[in-house]
Amino acid sequence: MASHPPLLTAVSSSARQLLLLLRCISFSKKSRVRISAEGIRFSTEEGSIMEAFVFLEKSLFTSYTYNAPPPLSSQEDVPAPPYLEINLTALLETLNIFGLSDPASAMGKRGGEYDSFATHRLNRHNAFSTHALGMPAGICTFSYAGSGSPLSIHMSESGVTTTCDLTTYEASTTEEIPFNRDSLALKTIMRASSLLDTVTELSSMNPETITITATPGSAASNNISFTSTGSLGSATVDFTTNTPLSTTAPILETFQCPRKTSASFKFGLVKAAQRAMASATKVSLRLDGEGVLSLQFLVELVEGKEEGEGVAFVDFRVVPLFEGEDGEGHGEGNGGSSDEE
Ligand SMILES: *[C@@H]1O[C@H](CO)[C@@H](O)[C@H](O)[C@H]1NC(C)=O
Ligand SMILES: *[C@@H]1O[C@H](CO)[C@@H](O)[C@H](O)[C@H]1NC(C)=O
Repeated sequence: MASHPPLLTAVSSSARQLLLLLRCISFSKKSRVRISAEGIRFSTEEGSIMEAFVFLEKSLFTSYTYNAPPPLSSQEDVPAPPYLEINLTALLETLNIFGLSDPASAMGKRGGEYDSFATHRLNRHNAFSTHALGMPAGICTFSYAGSGSPLSIHMSESGVTTTCDLTTYEASTTEEIPFNRDSLALKTIMRASSLLDTVTELSSMNPETITITATPGSAASNNISFTSTGSLGSATVDFTTNTPLSTTAPILETFQCPRKTSASFKFGLVKAAQRAMASATKVSLRLDGEGVLSLQFLVELVEGKEEGEGVAFVDFRVVPLFEGEDGEGHGEGNGGSSDEE
């Protein structure tokens, strides 16, 4: 076993990109990690009614070497790729060790705890390096020897290197929230900033739930509304494909909704995607036949790149509230669906 090559060695030339993506799902302090030949999938969850994941495709790395774990006995098939759990807070702190600036914090007060940490690191780093800013965004190597080993992150920038070994745990569950892409009640693509503005606006009343209602009209007037409800009252934000000013690009790019549909969610769960909303350019918002919400955010990693290049997706799935219920106990947990294209 000792002679088996390490299961994973992946080098990224931009720790900043990884940090940007992983921050989008950082509402939870721990993350599950699934390493495979295709890439690394990080996921976080909230009480099995909400799940977020980001898939770091191997093409995002400058080099990516995966060696399948050795079979335990000669009869056995190649074992499944490992499913680990790590401390996400610690991973983000490591990736941020050189105080890489956060585009989200430049946009306002959306930073939160990591930004004060970043500032701290930046000041510390500046003490022995006068050119921390504007430098290449940090070479970062992930390595994982195999079951029971830590996930090691080696960072280097401007001649300063740091290695951090994150303890790995066996994932307590490998279940994922099923989303049925073959039976969609709604699919629309909208600007991520519009969704962010909506959620920010509705937040002011500190609501408990958010209801998404979509109404198909003629091609020029499809409507989607977001209604928040709480003890302080309710509020609604409406969007329509019918933009009166022909100069403004439509907010809704695609709209597929066979019949009027509606589903409600805990407001806090949708709000947890705020960082993703702030980091993404577009979001594909879908409801499946059971009302499960899928938000797939398109994050542009490299400006001005060819279409399809330098982009990554951050996904959120939220289980709906049922009449008189709070959403517990939903889902058969057969979780095979994955959505990381
Ligand atoms: C995770 O890491 C953070 C930062 O290093 C630390 O403060 C926290 O205690 C860790 N949590 C667990 C459960 O180990
Ligand atoms: C969509 O909203 C507009 C403006 O609020 C309204 O005039 C129109 O009738 C609505 N269309 C449908 C199909 O509900």
